[in-house]
Amino acid sequence: SIDYSLSMQENVPTGITPDELQQVSRQFEQGLYQQMESRFKDGTYAFRQCLSDAREQLPAIKDYVAHQLADMQNFVVVGIGGSNLGNIVLDTAFAGNGRKIYYLDNVEPHKVKHLLQNLDLKRTVFNIITKSGSTSETLANYLVVRRTLEEQRLPLQRHLLFTTDPKKGYLQQLRQRDGIPTFTIPPQLGGRFSVLGAVGFLSSAFKGIDINQLLLGAESAAQELQGTELPRNKGLLLAAIYLQHYRKGRNINVFMPYSDRLYPFGLWFRQLWAESLGKIDQHGQKVGQTPEASLGTVDQHSQVQLYMEGPDDKVITFVKVCHHDDDIALDGEIDYFQGQTMAGLLNTQLHATEMSLKKQKRCSLRLEVDTLSEWNLGYLMYLYMYATVAAGEMLGVNPVDQPGVEEGKQFTYGLLGRPEYQDKKHEYRHLQQS
Ligand code: PA5
Repeated sequence: SIDYSLSMQENVPTGITPDELQQVSRQFEQGLYQQMESRFKDGTYAFRQCLSDAREQLPAIKDYVAHQLADMQNFVVVGIGGSNLGNIVLDTAFAGNGRKIYYLDNVEPHKVKHLLQNLDLKRTVFNIITKSGSTSETLANYLVVRRTLEEQRLPLQRHLLFTTDPKKGYLQQLRQRDGIPTFTIPPQLGGRFSVLGAVGFLSSAFKGIDINQLLLGAESAAQELQGTELPRNKGLLLAAIYLQHYRKGRNINVFMPYSDRLYPFGLWFRQLWAESLGKIDQHGQKVGQTPEASLGTVDQHSQVQLYMEGPDDKVITFVKVCHHDDDIALDGEIDYFQGQTMAGLLNTQLHATEMSLKKQKRCSLRLEVDTLSEWNLGYLMYLYMYATVAAGEMLGVNPVDQPGVEEGKQFTYGLLGRPEYQDKKHEYRHLQQS
């Protein structure tokens, strides 16, 4: 559930009004909703349709993990951005079966070398995830991994796994040449919207996370998030709240779960919101709200001072897990802890921070999940993807492209000498001199 009372003017004078929310609802009624729906239907916003693709791939993913990876102990995700972050969210949220997942995203030689030296490679599988099949960091890490496996005479078909576009890209050529097991990412699905499929499910299944429940949660969200009525459509509601705050000058959107298990969700959201919405809109205006990942209670001893007394340029979303697994009693010699638990302390701190912010006339909202289950996380991920494209509609930007990210990739390809990117190399030199 979403409690947004501390975002509303009736409770916090700097907040938004019911009328402002109704305006958003009307805007959607008068055309935006239809436009958004047609983009869902034609596959521009592919993550809804792709849930059925994920459902179809589920048995093959489970089968591969159960049979081909039965004696593996380590799983390394080799991918960056949308081809990596969702895996960390799922891995951190659930304890699973104790098998380990590692990550190679950046091309940090020290980290790569030490990881490859320290892992028992005979019991390690590397999932090379790249939608485009050409991202330089991922291919560089792949090369080093492959060379190491070859040096140790380990069979590539057993220790490598590809997750990529079904037709395009370098990995497809390699798959055909070397017979590497390959899972596919639907062609129309962008990286940051792809976690609920092969991209996120292979590592999760390896760790014993219930990927069926993740998918069921997302499917339920897809069914539920329909219509222009607020607060009924929670995805639209989130987008409306965030952007009405943005219009009041709140350029920063802080995601602050009171659970370490959800901290990477904030990093995933940070990518989703920034890369999807930080754009030049249809009128040539530069728009976007800066997302920030924060962690309760840890950041109460750090960022919260700024949230309280610094500029009123932030909207803060707290996430409360009502029933934490494995809660611990705090009975002992400290009187005020009598009858308390650790999770109780977390949630008391959350409410205390909410009220301190209210006292300073600062706006917040609270997402509540009963427990941190796979179903709930699948639901939450879908909810945020939906809110992101709805916000894209409101801002008049294309939330599923990323020309700014592509520009940097293309300059890199040009500088590295890829023949088809030589014009980018010349542009780079020209910019350097101008
Ligand atoms: O969301 C996105 O599109 C990006 O963050 C990509 O996921 C990232 O750049 C990696 O791209 P690829 O999967 O093609 O290697």
